[in-house]
Amino acid sequence: MTDAALPPIQADAPLDRLNTLALPGRAQQLLTITAPAQLTALAHQPAPARRFILGGGSNLVLQGDFPGQVLRMAIPGRELAAEDDDAWYLRAGAGENWHDFVRWTLAAGYPGLENLSLIPGTVGAAPIQNIGAYGLEVGERFHHLEAVDLTTGEVVRFDRHQLRFGYRDSLFKQEGWHLDGRYAITHVTFRLEKHWQAVTRYADVEKELAAAGIAAPTALQVSDAIIAIRQRKLPDPAQVPNAGSFFHNPVVDAATAARLAAEYPTLPQYPQHDGRVKLAAGWLIEQAGWKGRNLGPAGMYEKQALVLVNRGGATGADVGAVMAAVQASVREKFGVGLTPEPIFL
Ligand code: FAD
Ligand code: EPU
Repeated sequence: MTDAALPPIQADAPLDRLNTLALPGRAQQLLTITAPAQLTALAHQPAPARRFILGGGSNLVLQGDFPGQVLRMAIPGRELAAEDDDAWYLRAGAGENWHDFVRWTLAAGYPGLENLSLIPGTVGAAPIQNIGAYGLEVGERFHHLEAVDLTTGEVVRFDRHQLRFGYRDSLFKQEGWHLDGRYAITHVTFRLEKHWQAVTRYADVEKELAAAGIAAPTALQVSDAIIAIRQRKLPDPAQVPNAGSFFHNPVVDAATAARLAAEYPTLPQYPQHDGRVKLAAGWLIEQAGWKGRNLGPAGMYEKQALVLVNRGGATGADVGAVMAAVQASVREKFGVGLTPEPIFL
């Protein structure tokens, strides 16, 4: 690979506009990646002290300047890559906007991703934390991904069974690759079944469709319903900077769940297959008094207490202070620990 394939390097680049919490920070080097060959070329250069792979920055807490190389993934492309009797296989470049890709699949007649409408970010990041919403996780539609191993320059493929998907979890997080930037995902392929069935088991979705008088929704109608629900509850990062849910919904053992149910009968509880129980973190945070409450320039959103928002001018340290205060309140009141969802850089 020749140096001609290397992308231009921007030195001392601001990252404020590249993270949806709008936190300040600069990258020592910023490179925008538009083709896999650029990654192969980079792999043959001396390795930087640190490297981070950036998508849309919508699940990120920037803690200040980054003394290393940031690769901003902007590889384009979306196509019907293959088809068999049972399914369509849709392949997209890592840099595609996730929601635009979902709407494109629906317009082109390939249903299956509609429950994940309006999730910010890129296609390439979707498998990292196994994005999920309204009764579906992307792992259920994932087929394989292609990535470049930046330690060797090799193109590698990961299939679904290798990715060990869990709730907001995958092999990439389990191995720490989401932090050390070893693998840059270049393309993701989804398997969408031809025998499509609407997933409407999430109570909010059922209610929204019933209110619109829709008994047998199309995939597009499910997508529209979910967009409407999300727009009512979640702040648009362009208006109110945020990173979506700031904590995981905690999963506790059955005894803890029973103790909490006895004391707090209205606490939403979701039994899991393994006997454990998922609790609604938004409810815990609201009951701990944090809904709409600020600490300095950051706080918890007034319509959804699980969303941490930057009220203007917050830094990574301000976000960290709110996080710690909320964790302490919830632990004190309920004896439950909260784990942050976004990646801290
Ligand atoms: P980034 O924030 O840029 O990166 C996230 C992680 O992925 C980092 O570790 C990064 O290194 C890694 N990464 C990104 N691209 C690549 C690549 N090409 N190769 C290798 N590693 C890569 N999430 C949900 O699951 N469900 C929701 O309902 C949801 N709602 C949200 C609502 C709002 C308003 C916001 C702001 C966020 C929400 N999120 C939700 C979180 C976020 O949208 C997802 O985590 C999304 O997948 C992040 O994509 P991104 O491109 O912005 O990734
Ligand atoms: N709730 C409250 N107060 C609040 C917020 C929520 O009491 O301030 C209660 C709600 O009334 C409801 C329950 O908590 O009974 C769950 O709330 P909601 O349906 O809004 O979903 P969530 O559990 O807060 C999760 C995901 C979201 C995803 C939605 C829809 C996590 C951490 N969050 O939120 O994902 O969009 O469900 O499926 O699992 C994200 O990961 O960034 C994200 C936004």
